[in-house]
Amino acid sequence: MKTLVVLTGAGISAESGLHTFRDQGGLWHNYRIEDVATPEAWQQDPTRVLAFYNERRKQLIEAKPNNAHLALAALEKKYVVRIITQNIDDLHERGGSTHILHLHGELRKARSTADPDLVYDISGWELNMGDLCEKGSQLRPHVVWFGEAVPLIEDASEIVSSADLLMIIGTSMVVYPAAGLVNYARYGIPIYYIDPQPSPIRWLKNVTVIPRKAGDGVPALVKELLENKEQCNEPE
Ligand code: APR
Repeated sequence: MKTLVVLTGAGISAESGLHTFRDQGGLWHNYRIEDVATPEAWQQDPTRVLAFYNERRKQLIEAKPNNAHLALAALEKKYVVRIITQNIDDLHERGGSTHILHLHGELRKARSTADPDLVYDISGWELNMGDLCEKGSQLRPHVVWFGEAVPLIEDASEIVSSADLLMIIGTSMVVYPAAGLVNYARYGIPIYYIDPQPSPIRWLKNVTVIPRKAGDGVPALVKELLENKEQCNEPE
């Protein structure tokens, strides 16, 4: 089976009702990054940071995977599918995909501020001051903030370099190092980029830009890939 690597961003979850960051009405138009998504914000006002992520978690619990998430899960019938997502939501998991790397962390998990290896599921939507790890230290959201290292970036680049096909869905491709992952793709493999307002990625070869929303663009492409015997089988 061929390996299909999928890079996703906030756009794939937009039709599930979750805000993107940089579109009109996006989160970064209503919140200042430096108030809610940096280590300094956490130092200055952890209650405000927790409230921001609690609100995101509350919305996520009510959201459902959309046709794009579901279509990606169906691809596993004929491809080895590896999803690398910048999203902290769990809609790929709930949509049925089985190999997902969360580059920027996971909203429904908390991590110890004393020991980064202590990671816990959050059962409801709230994480509050006074919620402690087993060593007695405050828990923080298990997300990567601006200015922090991205611990899984090497694993992600290895996955991209194993791709026979690459799909990019719903990302503005402006946040690094995530946006640089495409450069690890083997030269000339087919790349599909689905986004109603795609960013220029002209330096890449063999890119098909599909300027549609994920909810209809992804299922249409998936159907094509599942029907195309040449694409999904190993060359003879
Ligand atoms: N279907 C597909 N794409 C969509 C849809 C949709 N229905 N609606 C919007 N988009 C596209 C936009 O055109 C845009 O290109 O989704 C992209 C969203 O871009 P951003 O808001 O910048 O989100 P993303 O690229 O995921 O941001 C990267 O930035 O703030 C950080 O950590 C955060 O992981 C996030 C990172």
